[in-house]
Amino acid sequence: MDRLVINGGKRLEGTVSVSGSKNAALPIAIAAAILADGASVIHNVPNLRDVETLCGVLETLGATAKYKNATLHIKPINRMAYEAPYDLVRKMRASVYVLGPLVARLGKAKVAFPGGCSIGPRPIDLHLKGLECLGARITVEGGYITAEADRLIGAKMNLKGRYGPSVGATANVMMAAALAEGATTIRNAAREPHIVDLANFLNALGAEIQGVGTPVLKIHGVKQLRGTEYTVIPDDIETGTFMVASAITNGDVFVQNALRDHLGAVSDKLLEAGVQLDWEENGVRVTTPRQLAAIDVNTEAFPGFPTDMQAQIIGLLSVTPGISTVTETIHTDRFMHVSELNRMGANIDIEGNRAIIRGVDKLSGAPVMASDLRAGAVLVLAGMVAKGETVVARVYHIDRGYESIETKLANVGADIVRL
Ligand code: UD1
Repeated sequence: MDRLVINGGKRLEGTVSVSGSKNAALPIAIAAAILADGASVIHNVPNLRDVETLCGVLETLGATAKYKNATLHIKPINRMAYEAPYDLVRKMRASVYVLGPLVARLGKAKVAFPGGCSIGPRPIDLHLKGLECLGARITVEGGYITAEADRLIGAKMNLKGRYGPSVGATANVMMAAALAEGATTIRNAAREPHIVDLANFLNALGAEIQGVGTPVLKIHGVKQLRGTEYTVIPDDIETGTFMVASAITNGDVFVQNALRDHLGAVSDKLLEAGVQLDWEENGVRVTTPRQLAAIDVNTEAFPGFPTDMQAQIIGLLSVTPGISTVTETIHTDRFMHVSELNRMGANIDIEGNRAIIRGVDKLSGAPVMASDLRAGAVLVLAGMVAKGETVVARVYHIDRGYESIETKLANVGADIVRL
């Protein structure tokens, strides 16, 4: 299995380019393959393990998905298969997003019930509630969810869950409602940049979705969607990770393709800590002209601070003088990276869903293990600032969501190699 070996202490300098958004590309490819009648060409798709897994899921369903040079060519399903098996769904939870589109298109869907994962339990009750509101009959048996409906019927629904809006439920229901009969209103819809991108893509296919980017989506169902050509937005979380990479190494990095509107909360917190951000038309220059200071961060649904940046900001704060706190309100158990950071010399306590971080002068390199995608990212960040050698195992987690991370970081001066 691959490992990343990092020799810390190098200051990052230069330009690093952000790839397309994973979390936008996945549902967009699903919509193209299942909802549309004609072929689609999707540009700026990142070269990631999750994209490869998704292409496998789509091909099982009878679509054709060909990936080359950041472009995905999709020919939609041939209307035969409606089942997404467990061995594919377990590799990637986002496979459950096929449920809504399949039932909308074929009248039936059978999808393996996704399990929890290392960031905690991950229920899908809101996905099912939304599809039931549209008239789908849902049964769960033998580890599979079956959804059936002759034709979905538009409805009014509120998708607010215990932890706020759900990205996945919003995507699933929005895709299904695009082909339902009549109008659907979703209150408390997620409005993350990738949800906006999915809605824009659906509209490019011929859907009629209003309120895009607000918590209330109004979807007028249409009979048919066509194929289209589309370019996926840059990945906001990869952007944020590179911004932290520059800050943590006291570097001077221009993060190319960074979109300011997608990074409001992350930028605010970095500025509050003392990082300098100089925005330009095609990206942001990140420098740390002065000593950073402790801050308090709460994760929240967009436009709040993203849970997918929680691990990385903890990494930065672990070497920032003073006592910082980071409260995780979305995936409340998502702290697996903390014990690994403490092995590297960080001083972080967890109390409930809050991390209390006492900034240390230095971290020291150690063998560590990535437990999930973003937990893996922070170990790379910590390794770049730690004294000595850090070896990150289970890199496949990182490869699910970061394209060529070692090449991109090495190009700006990190001492990092893959073994
Ligand atoms: C998506 C992202 C993931 C990110 C998360 C939160 C993708 C592929 N993944 O995951 O990277 O960490 O958004 O921004 O886009 N919940 C329920 N019931 C449900 C669904 C969710 O209670 O039916 C809860 C979850 O347990 C969690 C919160 O709602 O506490 C948000 O989850 P959700 O937005 O659905 O996350 P995902 O779509 O799984």
